Amino acid sequence: MARSALLNVMVQAAMKAGRSLSRDFGEVQNLQVSMKGPGDYVSQADRKAEDIIFTELSKARPGYGFLMEERGAVAGDDDQHRWIVDPLDGTTNFLHGIPIFAVSIALERQGQLVAGVVYNPAMDELYTAERGGGAFMNDRRLRVAARTKLSDAVIGCGVPHLGRPLHGQFLVELRNVMGEVSGIRRLGAASLDLAYVAAGRMDGFWEVGLSAWDIAAGMLLIREAGGFLSDMDGGQDMLESGSLVAGNEAIHRGLAKTLKRPIKG
Ligand code: IPD
Ligand code: CA
Ligand code: CA
Ligand code: CA
Repeated sequence: MARSALLNVMVQAAMKAGRSLSRDFGEVQNLQVSMKGPGDYVSQADRKAEDIIFTELSKARPGYGFLMEERGAVAGDDDQHRWIVDPLDGTTNFLHGIPIFAVSIALERQGQLVAGVVYNPAMDELYTAERGGGAFMNDRRLRVAARTKLSDAVIGCGVPHLGRPLHGQFLVELRNVMGEVSGIRRLGAASLDLAYVAAGRMDGFWEVGLSAWDIAAGMLLIREAGGFLSDMDGGQDMLESGSLVAGNEAIHRGLAKTLKRPIKG
């Protein structure tokens, strides 16, 4: 598969960071870890991967701005372009030796997502998408799952971090969804949750309390795999609100409706 120059730049940065993560994953007990908030950890591995991505992307596209989980916003001379980067999505899994984590890199041009890469180094799975060009896993074209009934669907979700004021809302949502679907999963890395929906491995997904870097690349994967997305209010403010519901057209509609249902006794 011939990739565009832009995707090549992103893939190179993601894979180089992925190799650094794989090395650190092999000796996770030696890493320095600190806490950003309750249940929210950051390690040397996150920062090393972020430094690699920052250096690679700055070299390849001087002047583009950044939004990165650990550095925050970094303004560039070019205000038309912004990289949105999570250097290690799934830090909790990573620190516990669970091989479900990823590098996530997206590019916004004039406020619109135009390219996205999610790389899971432990499985060597590379997800790529460019606006209008389809979504791929390694060389395979992706398509969201075709199941249309919630009762057949496996749905992914995210559990809000300890200390985030969203637990009550989550439990209501979970109870509503559990009554309708065939199975629920919680991978612990939102970028991979979205990649799995794009790949048709999971039929749908929802989570609230996310950040733009968790979802920007995965959102484009889903759109380019023929899927549907909205925030929890049915709008398109996923990056700003950090809430997201996804699936094929029918699952997205059914899931969004189920999530909003008031709880029955
Ligand atoms: C987290 C993961 C997790 C989600 C959390 C995120 P991090 O990202 O994506 O699945 O539930 O809300 O913060 O901190 O491991 O990059
Ligand atoms: Ca984090
Ligand atoms: Ca993340
Ligand atoms: Ca992260």
